[in-house]
Amino acid sequence: MWLDETFNLKYPVLQGGMAWVATAEFAAAVSEAGALGQIGSGSMTADMVRDSIRRVRELTDRPFGVNLMLMNPEADAIARVLAEEGVPLVTTGAGSPGKYISMWKEAGSIVIPVVSSLSLAQRMERQGADAVIAEGQEAGGHIGEQTSMVLWPLVADNLSIPMIAAGGIGSPRQIKAAIALGAEGFQLGTLFLSAEECPIHPAYKEAVIKATDTQVSVMGRVGGVPCRVLKNKFCRDYMSLEREGAEKEVLEEMLGGSLRQAVQEGNSEKGAFMMGLVAAGIKEIKPLNQLLADLFEGVDA
Ligand SMILES: Cc1cc2nc3c(=O)[nH]c(=O)nc-3n(C[C@H](O)[C@H](O)[C@H](O)COP(=O)(O)O)c2cc1C
Repeated sequence: MWLDETFNLKYPVLQGGMAWVATAEFAAAVSEAGALGQIGSGSMTADMVRDSIRRVRELTDRPFGVNLMLMNPEADAIARVLAEEGVPLVTTGAGSPGKYISMWKEAGSIVIPVVSSLSLAQRMERQGADAVIAEGQEAGGHIGEQTSMVLWPLVADNLSIPMIAAGGIGSPRQIKAAIALGAEGFQLGTLFLSAEECPIHPAYKEAVIKATDTQVSVMGRVGGVPCRVLKNKFCRDYMSLEREGAEKEVLEEMLGGSLRQAVQEGNSEKGAFMMGLVAAGIKEIKPLNQLLADLFEGVDA
């Protein structure tokens, strides 16, 4: 597949650059296990991103990536750090990275934006992206409207650059389905939360293992920033405030730091335990080597 051939990987898999979760140490461990690990820079300053990139390079010689959340107030500065450090892969979330693409390409990076619609995917192709990550709304975290089942073939059929499938992948059958729908690689977030090496609070990891299908829901639809999370106390409180028509500022304040509360404190009263619908099928905490071997059992990718 395009992804493993491009980066010389054992498995054609990107670990999603999850804010707060995807530290340098975790990204390096994923790359060492044969997939491609990414630093999630969503919660970082530009200096922290530079330190994290250098830390990954100390820990592994394998390729790695950095995810730039375009909503990050330091996005411009981080974008420059990525070019200065010449990271092998840049992915982006929450919008269009068009203005940075030529700078990253000149630095030798492969650039793969996350898209949740065909129109953004087409714009990214026109602006010079090497591939796109098409993410359906089954995914954990911030989501769009399209489902993976519909978005993946739409993007694969209408673009000439490769489509990496994301949103709802956690088993060999889902990998095979993504291949059937045109995938040239895969990006996973939720399954990686269940890895032994994943540096999230044990209560959060346990919540991923225990979640049933009806316990994973979407909050933030009212404010226009839908986000898929576990329906815990924090989520229920947030949704009732939304229903009551709370001010945007009140909601934003509640959201600020809520992923950190989940990742570092395991606090279900103040924490947004972001996870995708695929959590319902994840039942075990496994070391990365095992998790990846099991994901590709019987798959001819
Ligand atoms: C806890 C969590 C945090 C995430 N943070 C980011 C982020 O900062 N930037 C981004 O582009 N995607 C983010 N995502 C999305 C993932 O990178 C990935 O695309 C998604 O999880 C794939 O769907 P899945 O959860 O069904 O595997 C996050 C997902 C989760 C579960």
